Amino acid sequence: MTTLDLTPDELLSTTRAVRKRLDFTRPVPDELIRECVTLALQAPTGSNVVTARFVVVTDQEKRAALGEIYRDGYDKFMRSPGYPRRWKFEDAETKAQYDKMSSSAEYLGDHMGDAPALVLGCSTGPDRYSAVAGASNVLPSIWSFMLAARARGLGTAWTTLHALREQEIAQLLGIPYDNVAQLVMIPLAYTLGTDFKPAPRPDAEEVIHWNQW
Ligand SMILES: Cc1cc2nc3c(=O)[nH]c(=O)nc-3n(C[C@H](O)[C@H](O)[C@H](O)COP(=O)(O)O)c2cc1C
Repeated sequence: MTTLDLTPDELLSTTRAVRKRLDFTRPVPDELIRECVTLALQAPTGSNVVTARFVVVTDQEKRAALGEIYRDGYDKFMRSPGYPRRWKFEDAETKAQYDKMSSSAEYLGDHMGDAPALVLGCSTGPDRYSAVAGASNVLPSIWSFMLAARARGLGTAWTTLHALREQEIAQLLGIPYDNVAQLVMIPLAYTLGTDFKPAPRPDAEEVIHWNQW
């Protein structure tokens, strides 16, 4: 296993949503994905019960079908009344940041199926309600998966727009819809270059409430 030379703080501050810098030409070895899942499973879970499942799709036809479903979800999201295009931005910098993200998201909308692997981060439960309600039990492991990927020179993006057609995906991949919720669809690929920067974020003091709200 080779990992990038990153300190823990660099890893935590440079694991970005990678879209335009995903290398679609280079396959990701299964072994690397296995390592990422192994590390993901070290994340905390309620009562130490592992309800996370990772559906890894490398088959070209299935990726293409997932890509088409994602594109459709993206288009529907863009047309939805709540879409941020109608938001007012506080300043030019925020607007510029948003425009950059938007162009990158549009690119992924067109290319999701081109990623060499698509990973569905899932939550299981005895029934559909428990699987959906139990999302918080698996989210720490999904983020750990993405951190482990970044450490190995792989890029990921947390995406959710597949969810509008989740039942169809369940059918395509044989996922039991009644007790498995597909929370996240992650494109996984080597990154084009490994240099990523911390994102502009609010100062810690803006979001900390010391001792009382
Ligand atoms: C809950 C959640 C849902 C998201 N859904 C999508 C999505 O469907 N498509 C997409 O391109 N990015 C999606 N993102 C990625 C965000 O747009 C991205 O994390 C954000 O713009 C900040 O960029 P950064 O991660 O590079 O700092 C999602 C992120 C989160 C946490």
